[in-house]
Amino acid sequence: MSADFRDRDVISITDFSREEILYICEAGRKMYEMERAGKRNALRDALKHRTLSYMFYEPSTRTRTSFNTGMRELGGRYDGFSGTEGTSVMKNETVRDTVTMMCANHNDVIVMRHPLDGSLQWAADVANIPVINGGDGKNEHPTQALLDMLTIYVLKGGKLDGLRVGFGGDLSHGRTVRSLSLALSHFEGITIRWAAEDFLGMPADLAKLLAAQGVRVERDRSVRDVMAQVDFYYMTRPQLERMPGVTQKDIVGMMKQYRIDLGKVEGFDARLLHPLPVNSEIAEIDYRVYFTPAQAFFAQAEFGIFHRKALLHEMLGHEGYRRYSGELPAELGVGNNRLQRKIHGAKQSGMFIDKIHDGTVIDHLGVGALRAVDEALDLETRGYSCTTAVISEKPTPFIKTNLRDLSERDLKRIALISPEPTIDSIRDGRMTEKFVYLLCANGNCISRTVNEDVPPRFYDDGGAIRCRYCRRPYTITHRKVTEEERRAYLGSLPKKIETVAYPD
Ligand code: NCD
Repeated sequence: MSADFRDRDVISITDFSREEILYICEAGRKMYEMERAGKRNALRDALKHRTLSYMFYEPSTRTRTSFNTGMRELGGRYDGFSGTEGTSVMKNETVRDTVTMMCANHNDVIVMRHPLDGSLQWAADVANIPVINGGDGKNEHPTQALLDMLTIYVLKGGKLDGLRVGFGGDLSHGRTVRSLSLALSHFEGITIRWAAEDFLGMPADLAKLLAAQGVRVERDRSVRDVMAQVDFYYMTRPQLERMPGVTQKDIVGMMKQYRIDLGKVEGFDARLLHPLPVNSEIAEIDYRVYFTPAQAFFAQAEFGIFHRKALLHEMLGHEGYRRYSGELPAELGVGNNRLQRKIHGAKQSGMFIDKIHDGTVIDHLGVGALRAVDEALDLETRGYSCTTAVISEKPTPFIKTNLRDLSERDLKRIALISPEPTIDSIRDGRMTEKFVYLLCANGNCISRTVNEDVPPRFYDDGGAIRCRYCRRPYTITHRKVTEEERRAYLGSLPKKIETVAYPD
């Protein structure tokens, strides 16, 4: 078995093949055997002079410290921040700039956790050193999935096909269920069963992805129904921090019949996994369960060390390092989200109201969005003209301004209020360009955060448009975009997420 992890980013579990998952499980098993044989420090010089930078914008105990432990036992070092207090993030520094600083600091690898979906793809785009996703919003947590797979691999004696895994707790707002279920989907004959409140249930897009991969996904009525039919039950913590407006009391109510207590494990053979932490107030796992043979989550946590030690060893266990140049690749400043539309000669810019000679028409705004867009752009204060218009012949309002080029931030602000605006550029009284500005529809995606200046980018995943960062599917809803225009746009997109080339 061979696989190349050298200097590779670890952003999404879907970037790894079945062979690669098996390879890294086997490498992790060797670290586990080494520990059992009393040889914890056998590789103590492997990463001598290598440094890991941890950048944790969100709380973490296991992920951060287990990467550090892995580094320590391989003879490397670690440095970074845990929580943004005390960093320049407090002074509104962007992810791009902070990541660049960690590269300038002669680190060899970054492990980062951030509340926004897609933030880790962006960090990997920016960094000239490999980046490991330690959790991005409710998107992914690939090394958690790999350590979960390693746990199962060892407990099952090297078998990952034919597994029956139950999921419970919060399948909707967490990232561990997404990453683990997608990791499982590489294997044969996988069945996933789950039981949870609708609000905390499996997201439709994930169920669809799994079904397309041949995974059998079944929803059961009760935890006991699941427990009776699985080898492992993967419990998760309700991610209250990602549910604005929902109280702990609400969640306790929703979890009532789905908590794991003695009555739900006794009499079954399923082993209980949990990425941890357990919320002691919701107590999604009753503490008495901790002392039963079902409990496997503390062993699972130590597999996090074996996995991460193996991963770091594979990634960095070679000579050579990346030199920092202080330059950023130009593509970090340009999006590919402008869907070009055909310009029809006849109906030109100046319909219905005064023509503009040079400037921009912001068209097809949502009914009722006009005032908010007008306020967000604040054109008049900035010294530009601004004519807003709602006319009976046209179902959607529009804005005319003598501002020639709207900035990316202007365009984002418009699209956040009124999705898919049409932008017409007028030069010398003629329309020179007409495009629809697309922005990822996932409210938690980093590409929607104006100040982060992440250029919206999409890719063509076998005919489906996906966001480069959070990888959620995107559907064009603009009424006027023709099939031909849509196809031309799709054809202009890359077929996969291509790595950003960095000058050495
Ligand atoms: C998880 C996370 O942060 O996604 N924790 C972890 O890394 N072990 C799960 C959680 O916080 O509930």
